[in-house]
Amino acid sequence: SVPSLASSDDFLQCLAKKIPSELVYKQSSSDFTDVLVSSIRFPNFFTNTTVRPLCIVTPTDAGHVQAAVLCGRRNGVRLRVRSGGHDYEGLSYRSVRPEVFGVVDLAKLRSISVNESESTAWVNSGATIGELYYAIGKNNSELAFPAGECPTLGVGGHFSGGGVGMLMRKYGLSSDNVVDAKLVNAKGELLDRAGMGEDHFWAIRGGGGQSFGIVLSWKIQLLHVPPTVAVFSISKTLDQGAVDIVTRWQVVGPSLPDDLTMRVKVQGQEAMFLAVYLGTCSSLVATMGREFPELNMTSADCRSMTYLESTALSFTTLANIGTPEEVLLNRTSGLDISVEGKSDYVRRPISRAAWNDIFSWFKKNGSGLIMLEPHGGFIGSVPNATTPYPHRDGVLYVIQYLVFWPGANGAAPQTWLHDFYDFMGQHVTADPREAYVNFRDLDIGQNAVVDDVSTFESGQVWGERYFMGNFRRLAEVKAQVDPTDYFRNEQTTPPLLHRR
Ligand code: FDA
Repeated sequence: SVPSLASSDDFLQCLAKKIPSELVYKQSSSDFTDVLVSSIRFPNFFTNTTVRPLCIVTPTDAGHVQAAVLCGRRNGVRLRVRSGGHDYEGLSYRSVRPEVFGVVDLAKLRSISVNESESTAWVNSGATIGELYYAIGKNNSELAFPAGECPTLGVGGHFSGGGVGMLMRKYGLSSDNVVDAKLVNAKGELLDRAGMGEDHFWAIRGGGGQSFGIVLSWKIQLLHVPPTVAVFSISKTLDQGAVDIVTRWQVVGPSLPDDLTMRVKVQGQEAMFLAVYLGTCSSLVATMGREFPELNMTSADCRSMTYLESTALSFTTLANIGTPEEVLLNRTSGLDISVEGKSDYVRRPISRAAWNDIFSWFKKNGSGLIMLEPHGGFIGSVPNATTPYPHRDGVLYVIQYLVFWPGANGAAPQTWLHDFYDFMGQHVTADPREAYVNFRDLDIGQNAVVDDVSTFESGQVWGERYFMGNFRRLAEVKAQVDPTDYFRNEQTTPPLLHRR
């Protein structure tokens, strides 16, 4: 139900009593729009009809977050939490349905403290992964942390949903390497791992943002990388055998030594192979010659650099060699390109004939790109129930589909994406057609709310695609930690209130 304006006023008055006024931006404040757009990535979620928050709270300590939750509960106003704002559906700062809600924006809570002797760090949710890579690598160039490829991703949302990236074949997801965390729960309590208990701690490591509380900080295990890594990007056109080479990559990519991650971007009539290897160029050339001669990789393709330098390269091309590492600290990215994304998993290689068909989709009007990220190695060896991320044993790769367009009207790219995704159904996993929660897609389902609680059945529709057999346990944890469904959006795990 939409709270009345009276409770909104009471909510704002409650905030005013407990949080310094300069940290609360009401719709009437002159800075409201600037703060709102500060981490909106996609203009399609910032239009005249977008349902915007009543206010934005920008806490500088845990007490402010606790106060916001208590004020929200008392007055029936829900909170959405935003860390880096990269949600593909914008759910951290907009509502799909009419709703009065506040946003807790964690951008001011972004400190990172590295404990070199323990090889651990505490990182606040409002930090970006670029800031995290920088803090770790500047401290010790032989330490790193597995996470995604775009430096402006927020730690809060990214770790909450998993964290797929170039080190996952060696070390797993970000969420596989979290050893403690601090969160504010639906009662407004501040809890660490011991305080929240193992079920709750399990759920926040990949079970999706927003459902289980506001995670303020994460203690992470740092991992070893060599003093230099080797990097290449090689493009193949159709004439140069792209179809055959991609067909072969599907079995080679997931079975390479786990020091080597090679993902593939398909765009236009070209496939680009992007690799990071935890070793030297000479050893990489030898490995590639042995494992994947079809690509014809030579030492001329290879660049050696620190791991930190590799994270500063353009993440879609691995180009821009020599980019200063300080680019990782840049938190801004313009508001001019809209995006829509979807995901799929592949467990059986797609045939060569089908790849011919797939390439022909990339000649059509409105076509975007797909990114194929290989699994196997460590990520595939973790049992499916160890964390909520279930796409492990037997997964060859995840497909990320992306279309882009300037401004807010993307009819042609969106039509292309939907038609292409329908076409791909025959080639990817089925029952369920698996999807990755961090590539959020509201087309696969949205919660129905009955008696002010999201229903388990409506959640199952999308939830079993993101979490498979782990969805039920997530819903049981939700019932323990937030039975009234305070922390919710259109795609949060509903509480499973009665065992069935
Ligand atoms: P945002 O702040 O929008 O939050 C996302 C969700 O988590 C929301 O539901 C939000 O309410 C919730 N949330 C945020 N902070 C929270 C907190 N502190 N506690 C609890 N819940 C919280 N993924 C990947 O695995 N590998 C990759 O390489 C990439 N690359 C990539 C590139 C680009 C350009 C985009 C736009 C996205 C990706 N992603 C990705 C997907 C990315 O991991 C996903 O969008 C994350 O949720 C983003 O986290 P943010 O904090 O930035 O988002």
